[in-house]
Formats: sequence, C-alpha cells, structure tokens
Amino acid sequence: MLAGQRIVLGVTGGIAAYKAVEVCRRLVDAGAHVVPVMTAGAEHFLGRTTLSALASEPVQTSLWDEASPIPHTRLGQSADLIVVAPATARLLAAYAAGLSTDLLTNTLLATRAPVVVCPAMHTEMWEHPAVQANIATLRSRGVHIVEPESGRLAGGDVGAGRLAAPEAIVAAIEAVLATAAIEQGQLAGVHVVVSAGGTREPIDAVRVIANRSSGKQGYAIAAEAAARGAQVTLVSTVELPTPAGVAVRTVETAAQMQAELTQLAPTADVVVMAAAVADFRPVLAAEGKIKKDQGVPQIVLEATPDILAGLGAAKPAGQVLVGFAAETSDLLANATAKLQRKRLDLVVANDVSAPGVGFQHDTNAVTLLRADGTVQVVALTDKRAVAAAVLDTVVEIRAHAARPDHTNDTVNPTS
Ligand code: CTP
Repeated sequence: MLAGQRIVLGVTGGIAAYKAVEVCRRLVDAGAHVVPVMTAGAEHFLGRTTLSALASEPVQTSLWDEASPIPHTRLGQSADLIVVAPATARLLAAYAAGLSTDLLTNTLLATRAPVVVCPAMHTEMWEHPAVQANIATLRSRGVHIVEPESGRLAGGDVGAGRLAAPEAIVAAIEAVLATAAIEQGQLAGVHVVVSAGGTREPIDAVRVIANRSSGKQGYAIAAEAAARGAQVTLVSTVELPTPAGVAVRTVETAAQMQAELTQLAPTADVVVMAAAVADFRPVLAAEGKIKKDQGVPQIVLEATPDILAGLGAAKPAGQVLVGFAAETSDLLANATAKLQRKRLDLVVANDVSAPGVGFQHDTNAVTLLRADGTVQVVALTDKRAVAAAVLDTVVEIRAHAARPDHTNDTVNPTS
C-alpha cells in the first residue's frame, strides 16, 4: 500500500518530534517517497540532518528557501497523503482556522490529498475545549485523527496526550491510503497478471484441441487495470490488439501458460485467470501431420494441470487471486465449489449458455462471489464494464486486507 506513495511528513514543535524519525524510517522502508516538512518549533526538538538522512528528499522548513516561488502549492498538490506527527495544539488551531503561517500550514491548505493528524500534548491541553473543538472541526472536514495514547508525558506527568506509537501511525496511514484507493478505484503501483484466451493442445503438426474462448474478457481486464495505473502482464493465446501499457506474453498450450504464470505469480499483487484452459490434452502429439490413409487416429487424452489450483496453493500473502467459472448449470453452487477448491479470493461466474454471455461475445453477465461470502450480480453489459466491476471488487478486497479495523473518519490505533 505504501510503495511508491508520495507522503509529506509534517513535524511540529513537541517533545514527541523524535518519534517522527521512526515514522519516517518505517515509511521509507515500506517503499514510500517521504518529503519531510518541519516547522520552526520542530527545529527546537529535532535536527534537520536526522530526518534528511532518512527521508527521500531534504527537509523543507520555509516558504522562502526554494528556487520555486510556490513550493507550498507544489508539495500539497503532488502529495498522495500528508501526515502531521506530532501535531501541536497550535498546528490544530491554525489548520482548523485555515490560517497559513508557515510552509506546513500552507501545504495542508493547498492539498486535496488525505490528511492524517497525530496530536501530542499535555493532558490538560488535549482535553481543553478549544483543542477538542478544533479536532471536531478537522474531523468534520474529513481529516483523519490518530488519537494520542495515555501514558507518561514530558516532565513526568501521566495521562492522555502521548503521541501514538510509530507503528500505529504507519498502520493508520496505510488504512487511509487503502480507503482512498477504494474511492478512486485505483491500482497505481500494483502488479496485475491476467491470462486470456483458450489454450490449444496439439494433436499433430496441424491439428489442435481448442475451445471457444475469444480472449476478449481477459483483454478487457488487462486494459482496465492498465488504465487504473497498474503494471499489467497479459499471458495470452490470442492475437487481439495489445491494450496501451500492457506487456503481452504469447503462449499456446496449458503447459506453456502454466510455465509463464508460475514464473509471474509469486511477485504479482493480483492474478486474474480469465483464460479457458483445456482440461484434457493428447498424451502424445504426432510430430508430422497424421495422414488420412493412416486411418482414423485413436487420440489418448490426459488431464492438464489445473493452473489456478496450483496458484491458489502457492499464493503469497496479500495476493488477490481471481478465477472464472464457466458454467451451464448450477451456477452458484459450482462457482462456490471452485472458489473454495482453488483457494480464490474472488470467482467471476458466468452462465455461458445464456444469450450474449461469455465465449466470443462482446458482452457478458456475471456473478462475483467473494471468499467472504459477498455476492454481486453484474447484469448483461459490455466486457469492459464487467472488467471494471471485477477490478472494483479487487480494489475492495485489497483495501479490506490492509484495513482490518477502522472507520472512515477516525483512525484509533488503540481500538
Ligand atoms: N483453470 C485452470 N487450469 C485448468 C482448468 C481451469 O487454471 N486446467 C482455471 C480457469 O482459467 C478458470 C477456472 O480455473 O479461471 C475455472 O475454470 P472452468 O473451466 O470454469 O472450470 P474447471 O476447473 O475446468 O472445472 P469444470 O471443467 O469441471 O467446470
């Protein structure tokens, strides 16, 4: 969730500023691009060098120390998320009042990115009605508040107001990014592997066992994923126009498709198995063409490997695995059995005997069955719209996995 995300880390002048260093380190370790912004107050508690050494860019402190005349707008506009840790009572007041007093408040006012604010102060200050009113105002505007913990405070006092632990702050950031991803339906930084088309299993040098799959649904999913910013690899048996931004690997047989997918899947975030893989293949393919005068050949078949079941058995943590179920009867029961047997997160079930559905058509009607039992029916529509519905569900599953427990407007790491 954090990889490739541009995160502005605001640090204000509180004793907990030292914990911002740990927040920064954890974000960078997770692959985020961290831009630190310190207030003048923060510099009383923390040297610039420490944060600069850990972050992806040098610390910024002033509206006036950059060549660009409008850095406050630039920082806010280019951020995927802004986190302020620790946030003093002064910062909360300025932000709630819309007062731009320094680079950090300017950046906060100039952004449309999600904002996570982590207050830290003495108990009396935290409980003061003015501070609580500012928190309520910020929350009502969609700002995510990571509430302070109770514990030992500066000067030996004990009470509510201690900055949340760095791991809780980072978990809250991940949760907010996951929610933002749902809202935008985006897949930036996500590696999606899609298979498409029917496999062809050779009988001899010219004949194959094939099926009716056109590959159109798999191509639509690849195109939609790429349009949402994913890095997409398409393993295909057909030659349709390559969607923009998609890398295609062409295969023919189930064995070749299995080899490609086994290589790609371990590092993929999402695998969508839209291909129609042959279930049976000739044990031996004749080398040349079988001539008519040789008589009618007796073709001995064997089962192909179930590629998807293999991917399910070896699925890395966090990967979303999507299969299809092409059925002609008992749609839900058969699809549910495949979901469980192949350890899928989502199965896209279609009744391929219905008019306009599935193989070779430009349209499809599907039922999306999730491992958690959620069912969504997508009525007959074009295959790109079905692709969008499938990927919306994938984004939801990923976000849900990254967000085990939080509400939309408040992130309470202790709950
Ligand atoms: N699949 C696979 N390898 C196979 C057969 C199927 O990876 N040898 C995948 C398909 O790509 C699809 C899912 O498994 O995502 C279900 O395919 P389907 O043909 O509907 O079902 P099967 O598992 O083949 O079972 P059956 O033929 O009995 O319906």
